[in-house]
Amino acid sequence: MNDMLFKENDAKATMEPSRSILTVAAMALAASLLAQGPRGGAPRPAARSLPDGPEKQVVQRVCGSTCHGAEIVAGKGYSRDNWTTVVNGMIARGAKASASEFGEIVDYLAKNLPPRMGTAGAGGAGFIGSGPDDAHIVDPAAAERGKSVYVAECITCHGAQGRGGPDGADLVRSLVVLKDRYGATIGAFLKKGHPTQSGKPSASIGGAQVIDLAHFLHLKFTDTLRSGPYSQVINVLTGDAKAGQQYFNGAGGCNKCHSPGGDLAGVGRKYEPAMLQQKFLFPRTFGFGRGARGASSPKPVMLKVTPAGGATVTGVLAHLDDFSVSLRDGAGEYYSWTRTPSLKVEKDDPYAAHVELLDKYTDKSIHDTVAYLETLK
Ligand code: HEC
Ligand code: HEC
Repeated sequence: MNDMLFKENDAKATMEPSRSILTVAAMALAASLLAQGPRGGAPRPAARSLPDGPEKQVVQRVCGSTCHGAEIVAGKGYSRDNWTTVVNGMIARGAKASASEFGEIVDYLAKNLPPRMGTAGAGGAGFIGSGPDDAHIVDPAAAERGKSVYVAECITCHGAQGRGGPDGADLVRSLVVLKDRYGATIGAFLKKGHPTQSGKPSASIGGAQVIDLAHFLHLKFTDTLRSGPYSQVINVLTGDAKAGQQYFNGAGGCNKCHSPGGDLAGVGRKYEPAMLQQKFLFPRTFGFGRGARGASSPKPVMLKVTPAGGATVTGVLAHLDDFSVSLRDGAGEYYSWTRTPSLKVEKDDPYAAHVELLDKYTDKSIHDTVAYLETLK
């Protein structure tokens, strides 16, 4: 199911699909925020351009040079937190820029592409033409009403957290819920016939009730992602610090590179829990604003390039693909080569181990590890 998410949303991008469920869920947020390309549904404006602003060029260069055109963001509207999420997702997948440039990009996006309002009023015009690519904006009052429907008709099977169990599917990761906008998909699903607690036909749950239910499920969905790796709000108490310590020294292999009394001493004091989790999952991540106090700038990826019969040049990676390679050495000198079989290129990415780890974590090991790191005050 999660793989499907990737295939659909990444049709245009060449990102590495990660197999970690949690990463996938988090990426799904970023991907659904960024989801682009006509996929049926409501017609979309053909051409979109970026709003003007002093940082527009940075956005075009950085976002446009990685996996997709910079215009992918045009027409979207999100909060600063969500844009931070999107940008951190891109960084995790290899977007290159300096910390201050990433900060500028988030500023630009948050300022020029704020959340679109007016789509959440019950029955408002916003429902019409809300295409599958538009994020569902939760109306808290409707979600509260939807909660009563959920408690009355769904909770015994799908659980208090919507995470399912022996009798029901996990709705938080359900495609039916993920794709839904304002009850469209959930309503269609219930129309086909589905068990209810009261025994009444599921098709009789319609109209405003389905919309309310949709708001509630989207709220749940969002909440769950908020407690995921991209979150601002993390309850570290959900983890078991002792188990985290065992993981750190055992299966996680963290102690091969880190020591609680050495480089990670005081890490629980250095970052707020949300940032701590983010830094551990994606150490390349930059902090933007809240919770970012004291975050060190990410270490650069280093390159060693040796032309046939020439001297080795070492420096910070500027560009690397199948065709060319360039770097900047310690003196600030810029070097560039066309790649040939005789040109030796060695890459030293300090975060490579962490990227590999993303495929190995489980939800539990993440929460336990953060709880443990949190004790390193
Ligand atoms: C008697 C138990 C039961 C009740 C009550 C129930 N469900 Fe389900 N639900 C299931 C089971 C089992 C599945 C997985 C099989 C399926 O798709 O039908 C499921 C699947 C779903 C899915 C699809 C998930 C996916 O796989 O993507 C949605 C959406 C859903 N339920 C919503 C609801 C809603 C909304 C209610 C309340 C109005 C509800 N369900 C009530 C048992 C239940
Ligand atoms: C192969 C070596 C390696 C392994 C294994 C490894 N890390 Fe790291 N880790 C690094 C490097 C390199 C950094 C970046 C340090 C920097 O930016 O100064 C880092 C950064 C971090 C940070 C951020 C520190 C800070 O102050 O910003 C945390 C937290 C962290 N790792 C936790 C872990 C945990 C937990 C594990 C095990 C699940 C782990 N690491 C496994 C090499 C490793």
